[in-house]
Amino acid sequence: MMIDEFVTYETAVTQTLNQHVSVRSFLDKPVSDEMLHAILNAARRSPTSSNMQTYSIIVVRDPETRQKLAVLAGNQKHIEECDVFVGFLADLNRLGIASEMHGETLAKSLETTLVSTVDAALVGMSVQTAAESFGLGAVMIGGMRNQPHKVAELLGFPSGVYMVFGMSIGWPAADPPAVLKPRLPESLVIHHERYDPTDPISRIAEYDATLADYYGQRNQNTAAWSGPIAQRLNKPRRPHLRQTLEAMGFHFD
Ligand SMILES: Cc1cc2nc3c(=O)[nH]c(=O)nc-3n(C[C@H](O)[C@H](O)[C@H](O)COP(=O)(O)O)c2cc1C
Repeated sequence: MMIDEFVTYETAVTQTLNQHVSVRSFLDKPVSDEMLHAILNAARRSPTSSNMQTYSIIVVRDPETRQKLAVLAGNQKHIEECDVFVGFLADLNRLGIASEMHGETLAKSLETTLVSTVDAALVGMSVQTAAESFGLGAVMIGGMRNQPHKVAELLGFPSGVYMVFGMSIGWPAADPPAVLKPRLPESLVIHHERYDPTDPISRIAEYDATLADYYGQRNQNTAAWSGPIAQRLNKPRRPHLRQTLEAMGFHFD
């Protein structure tokens, strides 16, 4: 790849992306409806598969509902303490209605499950970036998939709708950290022309050391990357998820 070393490739968008950090602690200060509207509607420009727009967004401000969502996500306090919680939903319900309008039945499949989940994820990422561009802080909440049926019941989802992840949004309680959490080495993640399988172990070990150093400097007693991954993924996570999502109207074949 040719890189022009005399030019700095930077825009407001890349600046925002380069400053990203998940924020879990918020000021008691409202995010205005107008600002939220601007964020959500900018994010709605995100690409979606075949323009099917197979997602919905749910905004939850009510403290009591957020408290219940916090419990469902495994007691994640920031869902209660943020100003606004936003959920990103895979939504096959609307496609089913559109099909019925033309006397057809929506053929659900693994593909519709993936398409709706990907669409929801893309709009969610755009919301995070747009929110951060306004100086807001946010953290995505995959914990919404701990008990997706209870989330659906609480928020009144019809069949064919599940929350892929949520997001706590608010004004950050602290200044952004001087040093951001290091990512995996670029050479391990970005491949050119062909996937490069060469010597991943030494580069993973290199990242383990970098991350251990990062946590160590913050007095965070968190083990580095590969160890926790190995422990976390030595058995299937959320083993009931397929069964639950099938009962909620999603197909996996
Ligand atoms: C899909 C998704 C789900 C996530 N779920 C949670 C969550 O439930 N709780 C949480 O505290 N952080 C969650 N995170 C945030 C990640 O932990 C965080 O992005 C990662 O550790 C990198 O840190 P950084 O975003 O501060 O750079 C989630 C992130 C993603 C992309």
